[in-house]
Amino acid sequence: MKIAITGHTNGIGKAIYDDLITTNDVIGFSLTTGYDISSPEERKKIIEESMDCTVFINNAFDYSKWPTEENTDSQCLMAEELFDAWKGQEKFIINIGSRINDFSEFENEYKAIYAKQKKRLDQFYLDHSHEKPYVITVRPGSTNTRVVKQENIEKLNPKDVAQVIRFILENKYNFLVRTITLGKIND
Ligand SMILES: NC(=O)c1ccc[n+]([C@@H]2O[C@H](COP(=O)([O-])OP(=O)(O)OC[C@H]3O[C@@H](n4cnc5c(N)ncnc54)[C@H](OP(=O)(O)O)[C@@H]3O)[C@@H](O)[C@H]2O)c1
Repeated sequence: MKIAITGHTNGIGKAIYDDLITTNDVIGFSLTTGYDISSPEERKKIIEESMDCTVFINNAFDYSKWPTEENTDSQCLMAEELFDAWKGQEKFIINIGSRINDFSEFENEYKAIYAKQKKRLDQFYLDHSHEKPYVITVRPGSTNTRVVKQENIEKLNPKDVAQVIRFILENKYNFLVRTITLGKIND
């Protein structure tokens, strides 16, 4: 199976990539490998290079423009544009969302902007859950990557998220996990 993933060079995306590459043909698109999802032209290039993939893991979130809202919608745009390109096809888009919207208050403006975009991804799933390509949303809680600075909270290991992705992909023609939320017991 051929799989595409954004943000495969760090954190959650790297854990998913390192796991899936052992048994699949995987292509990765990350900032430091020459693909910026905040650029419309580069999203187009990513879609063109992924046309022969069965699965697209839409993992990268562009944190670089915080705290303004400008360009933080790149991950949502990636999902929307890919969905249009794959319309009607027996393929799978896995969006890496977040558990953040299980909480009603956010500590700061950064988190509120982030939560808004992740809510848009949740809504994207609801809007397309009866269509093809199949849209799947995986919503991790706090995970131990470079973006999470707090030391006093329990965090998932990125490999935990990779295990969930493997489970979804191994079973996808038997039953489809459509949305899944995961987190540490005390998170
Ligand atoms: N960490 C958490 O607690 C947590 C919880 C829930 C959900 N998530 C979600 O999980 C996903 C990955 O987060 P992470 O914590 O693993 O982040 P990370 O460790 O910072 O890794 C981000 C990855 O995305 C790539 N990337 C960043 N901006 C990009 C851009 N503009 N264009 C292309 N690639 C770009 C990075 O590439 P380079 O290595 O080249 O910079 C890197 O490979 C995000 O969608 C995030 O919202 C994270």
